[in-house]
Amino acid sequence: MPPIGIHDIAFATTHYVLDLDELARYRRVDPAKYHLGLGQDTMSFPAVDEDIVTMAATAAAPILQRHGSDKLRTLLLATETGVDQSKAAALYLHPLLDLPSTTRIVELKQACYSGTAALQFAAGLISRDPTEQVLIIATDIARYDLDSPGEPTQGAAAVAMLVTAEPAMLQLDSPSGVYSDDVMDFWRPNHRTTALVDGKLSISTYLDATSRAWTDYRARGGRGLDDFRAFCYHLPYTAMARKAHDNLLRTVGVEWEPERVTAAIEDSTRYNRLVGNSYTASLYLGFISLLDHAPDLTGQPVAFFSYGSGCVCECFSGTVQPGYRQHLRTADNKERIAARTPISYFRYRAMHSDRARYPSNLTFDQDTGGPYRLTEIIDNKRTYQKV
Ligand code: COA
Repeated sequence: MPPIGIHDIAFATTHYVLDLDELARYRRVDPAKYHLGLGQDTMSFPAVDEDIVTMAATAAAPILQRHGSDKLRTLLLATETGVDQSKAAALYLHPLLDLPSTTRIVELKQACYSGTAALQFAAGLISRDPTEQVLIIATDIARYDLDSPGEPTQGAAAVAMLVTAEPAMLQLDSPSGVYSDDVMDFWRPNHRTTALVDGKLSISTYLDATSRAWTDYRARGGRGLDDFRAFCYHLPYTAMARKAHDNLLRTVGVEWEPERVTAAIEDSTRYNRLVGNSYTASLYLGFISLLDHAPDLTGQPVAFFSYGSGCVCECFSGTVQPGYRQHLRTADNKERIAARTPISYFRYRAMHSDRARYPSNLTFDQDTGGPYRLTEIIDNKRTYQKV
């Protein structure tokens, strides 16, 4: 079987950004709680005409421009903030991205985990026919109630990944460790537009699940801790990476100097600190951040921990490929984050509340500066447009 993995990867985020200093001021919270305690500085917030579909299209477009879609046979869209209970959000991408009609399209859900399920399913499809390519898009808008503890851990992003044989960026290892259990740490019933969360339970479940997934990964022949140059964790907020890594060291029974822990996780947290949580996309945004910020990783193994509340956790690994740096979009990525438009606290609050009340008929004024927009919802039918 040929090597399989990530051939190309790109991300998109929203038009607006909320500075957490502003949120702290109005919530009368010490800003250090957000910057140091949670490890978040700003969070992305969508324009009125942006959603998971527009972010998905924006993330996937540069990949399709670079590689075409001739070999594309499958598109897997992972999200926990879907726009329809039946129709896969990825179908709206069909005209926007000019996808071949010979593409298998489906949406996957399991909280923040389903992007990783998509990656494993893609690897299975490609091992059956290495000439096929699979496009994965993880796209989410993390939304909690206003004034709730989760509010400073919101954010939004989409990550698109092209999975192929003979990948140019990351070759996946075969062993994978998984753990799942029925836990009510985070959920969003059908009638709600914001998630419900038992924050403390979600942290302890995340930590327990990652150490159990690691144990399974090792039992199935996975690499040892010292083999890894870097660790990418699911990042609901970036301080979670240090909690998770310290917990992993306790699980393995070793001690690392704090500087070594920082070196192992910090580069993967840089974009997430500015974008906020992006649920399914967050682990992979962390991987892009690692590739864009770390010194040369050629030939280095990277460990991944994907956690989705509810809960499913998977630990897997891969090796960064020679020449990967030629394919990065580092300058564009940094510019995309820097170019977001600051939003005032009051406008953010008003738009947050409006989003919970979308009626079945609505036309949206142009608000986003991005390349794709939601133009209207008429008779409950959504229409999108390339700007
Ligand atoms: N300066 C520095 N750090 C501060 C601080 C200050 N002034 N005030 C508080 N902190 C620290 C706390 O000590 C805590 O650190 P610790 O986690 O290492 O103990 C951290 O900031 C968060 O403070 P805490 O009081 O625990 O926050 P909270 O109860 O308001 O909520 C979450 C934190 C994460 C539970 C909440 O944001 C949430 O529910 N988020 C959504 C769910 C989520 O992200 N879950 C993660 C797993 S999926």
